[in-house]
Amino acid sequence: MNPKVALVGPGRVGCAVSKRLYEAGYPLTAIISRSRERATDACSYIGCSTTLASTQLTDSATAEIILLAVTDDQIQRLAVQIQATNQFSKPTTLIHFSGLHPAEIMFHQSSPQALLSLHPLLPFANRQKAYMNLQGCPCALESDDPKALVLGEKLVGAIGGHSFTIDHDKKPLYHSAACIASNYLVTLFASACKLLISCGIEPDQTAPLLLPLVQASVENIKDLGPEQGLTGPIVRGDIGTVTEHLQTLQDNAPELLQPYLQMGIMTVEISTNSGRLDPKTALAMKDLFTTKIKELSSNK
Ligand SMILES: NC(=O)c1ccc[n+]([C@@H]2O[C@H](COP(=O)([O-])OP(=O)(O)OC[C@H]3O[C@@H](n4cnc5c(N)ncnc54)[C@H](OP(=O)(O)O)[C@@H]3O)[C@@H](O)[C@H]2O)c1
Repeated sequence: MNPKVALVGPGRVGCAVSKRLYEAGYPLTAIISRSRERATDACSYIGCSTTLASTQLTDSATAEIILLAVTDDQIQRLAVQIQATNQFSKPTTLIHFSGLHPAEIMFHQSSPQALLSLHPLLPFANRQKAYMNLQGCPCALESDDPKALVLGEKLVGAIGGHSFTIDHDKKPLYHSAACIASNYLVTLFASACKLLISCGIEPDQTAPLLLPLVQASVENIKDLGPEQGLTGPIVRGDIGTVTEHLQTLQDNAPELLQPYLQMGIMTVEISTNSGRLDPKTALAMKDLFTTKIKELSSNK
């Protein structure tokens, strides 16, 4: 018999993970929200009985696993509240889903339970997309408790993912990596769309025009790795083209000049490591970027 699960915070992550666990045979004991409507809606989405909908944290007491799928800033407060008020009948594992915080953030002296952090390395834009994408998703596990890690591996398997472990003190760095790869990719894409609009292209045409480029670039990374997958003027050593970019950005989108320069320096490094940019041109390219950065900061 699988352990019983209660969900606190039926948002995107909570609903997607709970639906997967429920379908994998984990009994649910409560779906807890601050709003009865949201809890009931989550039950309907997950496919469990709407009688499990609750607004009381104490309804998590009979569960052996409590999923604290709340916003990062609420994890500690709610974990403390649950452990201070619940009369646990069995040993319980508290799980949060933050990529940043350690599992230990949920520790409470009066009623220490097993603590685990389980971070699906996935952008949860909405619960249904997340539910689908959990299949094959890498999930970071972190805990000081070996038994909690073993349970985490089982749960990750049940939701369709594959697990790896991360040390608690490396989580901020790990989460920065996730943010850069996912969130900043979106920001860069939106910035490129804005530039196309400045070229006179209709806003609703920008994404269809740029998406094949993005998708092909992602495919190149997947097939060849970043170094050999890199294309464009920097790795080709086309200093003239890059110089024109700097001028046109300064004239038309000055807010993108600094990011372009900083990313340019990092791209020179990848190009050099790829063995496709000769050291002399790399130095000249880097010089172009650093001189411009100095010029901009002295103009402030
Ligand atoms: N979104 C992602 O891409 C992603 C990916 C991996 C991990 N995560 C992590 O997963 C966790 C949940 O993120 P999410 O994207 O699922 O967030 P979400 O969709 O905004 O849902 C958050 C839930 O937190 C509850 N909540 C918010 N403020 C609260 C408060 N003051 N008191 C009690 N409950 C409160 C809400 O419950 P109510 O029903 O009571 O409003 C809501 O259901 C976070 O730790 C996040 O870092 C997110």
